[in-house]
Amino acid sequence: MSSVATSEETAAFPIPAGVFAETVTSVKHYTDRLFSFRMTRPASFRFRSGEFVMIGLPNAAKPVFRAYSIASPAWDEELEFFSIKVPGGPLTEHLQKIRPGDTVLMRKKPTGTLVHDALIPGKRLFLFSTGTGIAPFASVIRDPETYEKFEQVILTQTCRENAELNYGRELVENTKSDELMSEFVGDKLMFHASATREGETRGHRITTLIENGKLFTDLGIEPLNPETDRAMICGSMAMLREIEGLLQARGFEEGANNKPGTYVVERAFVD
Ligand code: A2P
Repeated sequence: MSSVATSEETAAFPIPAGVFAETVTSVKHYTDRLFSFRMTRPASFRFRSGEFVMIGLPNAAKPVFRAYSIASPAWDEELEFFSIKVPGGPLTEHLQKIRPGDTVLMRKKPTGTLVHDALIPGKRLFLFSTGTGIAPFASVIRDPETYEKFEQVILTQTCRENAELNYGRELVENTKSDELMSEFVGDKLMFHASATREGETRGHRITTLIENGKLFTDLGIEPLNPETDRAMICGSMAMLREIEGLLQARGFEEGANNKPGTYVVERAFVD
C-alpha cells in the first residue's frame, strides 16, 4: 500500500458520502519537497479567496483528509493546491504521485480566517508566508477584490532554498501579466522572496527583515503602521508566533470573521 491506488484499485473504495470526487487536470513538481496540482471544480462549490478545504484520496475505506488552502482565486473554473511532500506522510506520500485523470476527494465546506471579511479596511495589505504558506495568498493576490480594497499589496515568502521560491515567482509574474488580472493589479503588487539557507539571502528570515527594516528599504516602502496596514500570516507555528509578536508590539490587533481586526492568522496547518 505504499503507492497511490490505481483507478481499478480505487474503484474498490466507494466515494464517502458528503464529499466531492474531482479529476486532476495538471500536476507540477517544483522540488523533491514541493508540488502543485489543479483539478476540476464542482459547479456548486463556492469559497472566499484565502479559505481552505479538506482534501483526501479515494485509496482507503476511511480516507485521510488534510487541510489545504485553495491557491486558485474564487473566479477560476478549476481549483489549485500547493503541497509539501512529507516522506511517509499519510496523505502526501500518495498525493505526490497523482497524475492528470486521477481522482481527488474534497469535503464540501470551505472555511478559514485569511479572508477580506476578517480585516478592517486599510491602505496596504501585507501577506507574510513561509513555504507552502503562500498557497492562500496565491488565491488572495489573484482576486480583483484585493486591489479594489487596497492601494498596495506586499507578498513575502521565505523558504529554505531558492528553488522552493519558484512557485511564488511564477505566480506573481503570471498574475502581473495575466490579461484579466493586470488591469486590477497595475503596479500595486510587490513580492519579496528570500531563501534563508543559501545564496545572498541566507539568514534573511522575514522576522529579521521586519526588525532590521531591510524589508521596507529593499522594497522602498514605509515601515509597518497599524493605521494604514493590514496583514495576513500563514506559515509554521514558530513563524506565526514571531510575526504576531512583532505586529502586536506595533499596535496591530488580531481579527476574525465575526470581529474584523488589523491582522489575521491561519492556524489550521500548524502541528
Ligand atoms: P530558517 O531556514 O532560518 O529556519 P521550515 O521549512 O522549517 O518550515 O522553514 C521555512 C522557512 O521559514 C525557512 O526560510 C525558515 O528559516 C523560516 N522560519 C522558520 N522558523 C521561523 C521563525 N520562527 N520565524 C521566521 N521564519 C522562520
